[in-house]
Amino acid sequence: MCGIVGYVGSQEATPIILDGLRRLEYRGYDSAGVCTIAAGRAAVRRSEGKLINLERLVTEAPLTGTIGIGHTRWATHGKPSETNAHPHQAGSIIVVHNGIIENYLELKARLKADGREFKSETDTEVISHLIDEKYAATGTFVEAVRLALQELRGAYAVCILCEQEPNVLVAAKQGSPMVVGLGAGEFFVASDIPAILSHTREMVFLEDGEMVVFREGTPSFSRVTGEPLEKTSRHIDWSPLMAEKGGYKHFMLKEIFEQPRAIRDTIAGRLREEEGDVYLEDLRLSDCELREFDRICIVACGTSWHAALVGKFLLEEHCRIPVEVDIASEFRYRNPVVNDRTLMVLISQSGETADTLAAMREGKSRGARNVAICNVVDSSIAREATGVVYTHAGPEIGVASTKAFVTQLVALYLLTIRLGRAIGTIDAERGQAMITELVKVPALLEKTLEINDAVEKTARRYMNARDFLYLGRGINYPIALEGALKLKEISYIHAEGYPAGEMKHGPIALIDENMPVVVLVPRNSTYEKVLSNMEEVVARGGRVIAICSAGDREVADKAEETLAIPADGGELTSILLSVPLQLLAYHVAVLKGTDVDQPRNLAKSVTVE
Ligand code: F6R
Repeated sequence: MCGIVGYVGSQEATPIILDGLRRLEYRGYDSAGVCTIAAGRAAVRRSEGKLINLERLVTEAPLTGTIGIGHTRWATHGKPSETNAHPHQAGSIIVVHNGIIENYLELKARLKADGREFKSETDTEVISHLIDEKYAATGTFVEAVRLALQELRGAYAVCILCEQEPNVLVAAKQGSPMVVGLGAGEFFVASDIPAILSHTREMVFLEDGEMVVFREGTPSFSRVTGEPLEKTSRHIDWSPLMAEKGGYKHFMLKEIFEQPRAIRDTIAGRLREEEGDVYLEDLRLSDCELREFDRICIVACGTSWHAALVGKFLLEEHCRIPVEVDIASEFRYRNPVVNDRTLMVLISQSGETADTLAAMREGKSRGARNVAICNVVDSSIAREATGVVYTHAGPEIGVASTKAFVTQLVALYLLTIRLGRAIGTIDAERGQAMITELVKVPALLEKTLEINDAVEKTARRYMNARDFLYLGRGINYPIALEGALKLKEISYIHAEGYPAGEMKHGPIALIDENMPVVVLVPRNSTYEKVLSNMEEVVARGGRVIAICSAGDREVADKAEETLAIPADGGELTSILLSVPLQLLAYHVAVLKGTDVDQPRNLAKSVTVE
């Protein structure tokens, strides 16, 4: 989720690039950099931290030139630092990149064996070296870019300069966004519209496998493989604020719709399909060490705690190790039983939650080793943990967590496969089957998101209810808890999540025609049981909103309202079930007119006890 800006024209490039980067800061920032070429010489400025640091640096040591590229970074490979900040230069090639190169380790090994020296820990530096290698062989910048890009696996949006061909700028895209702005005798590229909207509203959207070369005042579009393309521009009439939200009304909605991409990024480069295993680059626990644990203790808060409950289900099912799940603020004050045979898993999207950090330290002091699941690279929890599995959701701006949550579920699934393979409870064949299920999820999520309009209608119908009950069973019980939390957080309606089978032990007394009951009833092993629980609600005059598998007539006949997801109940259905619940909370909140992205009394990271 980095931000890229490029400029070529007759104005000074640096102010335009810095202004564009400022407008992309919502994509995340831990460092930033810019490069311009003037009089055939490239000059680079980079700095760690917010953009303001780079702006100061450029004020102290100005850059000139009417062609340039810039970048704000949200770390994926390599911690935030000046060395890891973009642009990355190798020979005369200078690159900024957004995305994740899956085969960067093998490419890096080959380039190193050929005598190339790397300065950073990033996957991006591999791109600059690879292009430079091809440039040395062909002597043609654009040809070198084409050849190099065809060797990359993964996702990229790149903007590239060449010191030897100082009037040429190349940009290309595969999997990560890239837009080209057409001005009067000047051109812009950016990873998102807001960066360049104040300069032009005529934009061309690059598709995967496409590139653009700006040379002598004209852009020429082609496929990376070389075939020329005719592209037509679109006039963008969004306001700057709309543009920042990608045209969505709220960041939360944008982030809900980003979930397929967030999951693709979280699994990118990590699957070893043939071995039925996964590669977790920062796990820092060998197979031998993983075999030493006889207990797992997952600790987290709020939404991350709900992910932890799903993790218990996955890890116990596949790894056959007892898993305890704790709320961090409880764990730290109750003399927990953990020791050097305990693996603690800390889940925190921000990596800064004070209670989770304290729980980690508490466990550590008792000899437990740990793995953190975090979204923010180099956050406090990530830094102090033995190992980390990063979710690559990108920055989440809506206070109510959505895309960070589903990527936590994916990270837990990856961790389950890795642990199961290491300790032998998952064989290669089972691992392969689990991976096959996982890779289907982003496309299924895209399909699930088509439910949006239907959920909005449901929200209209039920928005005036004072209380909601959410029921789920097994792996979907935590999803019911999460659905209830989302509704509470942003619509301020009281909602409770409950294990469906437990309802008869108390909450059933609440059921009447005034309280909608959201029931998660996909076709899985507990389907019949949940169906009976649902009937218990209907029999007492309750109004059921059922979230079920597509085409389930039986459920549709019993529920007042059904919202169908395109799957029939594997473990990863939990991810799909989350979508209608997020959307229901979102639409109810919008209809009630609350502040969706910044609900009252809540903060994005809770750094106090
Ligand atoms: C709810 C939400 C919170 C967080 C909780 C922990 O939408 O986001 O419940 O999950 O404050 O935060 P992290 O995951 O940053 O530790």
